[in-house]
Amino acid sequence: MAPVIEARGLTHEYPDGTTAIRDVDLTVDRGERVAVVGANGSGKSTLQLALGGLVEPTAGAVTYFGETSDAEAVRDRLGVLLQDPDDYLFNTTVREDIEYGPAQLGQPRETARRRVDALAAELGLEDLLDRPPFRLSGGEKQRAAVASVLAFDPEVLLLDEPFGAVDARYRERIRESVTDRDGTLLWFTPSLDAVPEVAERVVLVSRNGSIAADGPVREILTDRTLLRDHGLRPPATVRLFEGLVEREKLPLTVEAARRYLRRDE
Ligand SMILES: Nc1ncnc2c1ncn2[C@@H]1O[C@H](COP(=O)(O)OP(=O)(O)OP(=O)(O)O)[C@@H](O)[C@H]1O
Ligand SMILES: [Mg+2]
Repeated sequence: MAPVIEARGLTHEYPDGTTAIRDVDLTVDRGERVAVVGANGSGKSTLQLALGGLVEPTAGAVTYFGETSDAEAVRDRLGVLLQDPDDYLFNTTVREDIEYGPAQLGQPRETARRRVDALAAELGLEDLLDRPPFRLSGGEKQRAAVASVLAFDPEVLLLDEPFGAVDARYRERIRESVTDRDGTLLWFTPSLDAVPEVAERVVLVSRNGSIAADGPVREILTDRTLLRDHGLRPPATVRLFEGLVEREKLPLTVEAARRYLRRDE
């Protein structure tokens, strides 16, 4: 089956001369869950925009579903959540914002309404649906923005730091909502702690906007030197168990650490 996303030589230079991403080759297959990680300013958001067809690359191209390089032709199959939730929320009420995607796709109003209600329950938005989005708190806005992307059930999710302002309970809900589905996931983040619970593959963006590494979560997240060289550090459990446990057994999550300790008792 053709890859869902195939980028070749993708480069983007902003008008002021900043080259934010540099010669990126990236192939993502259907159903893969990929975390794109890198330091602040490394180019993750620019890469997301370029992959989502929201900025025109200055060189290179992206092919979608093996079919086309025109993102507009597959717009309804890509769920792009930008880093700033204010970019999504522009209707009079939160409900209208979340219904916007399904309405654009011509889904029947009743179906859209049911889906919005289900998402609102999942993401704790029930009491916020009739409020103007600009009156929400930062974390509430972010949850509403996530809901508005999930509402039209896109095949591919490209989510830029969807956790930023969200509290622990709703982080868990968002994580479940985006991993308990059949689609493909690209998750852009500068923070590695949640990555093992979200993704199976990690793409590391270096400070100059090129891809420094691309591999299984364990391989990348246990490589302290590689991460440090790119302004990142391993998840807390890896740091805690480093030197005590062989690399292949380093627990990547709190749950795995607990299992390890129980077994060792
Ligand atoms: N509109 C713009 N015009 C010029 N330069 C930009 C613009 N947006 C971003 N940049 C620059 O491009 C580079 C990559 O920025 P980008 O926002 O893609 O990084 P990021 O990895 O998403 O960072 P963060 O972790 O802070 O979200 C940075 O050097 C940034 O200053
Ligand atoms: Mg960013």
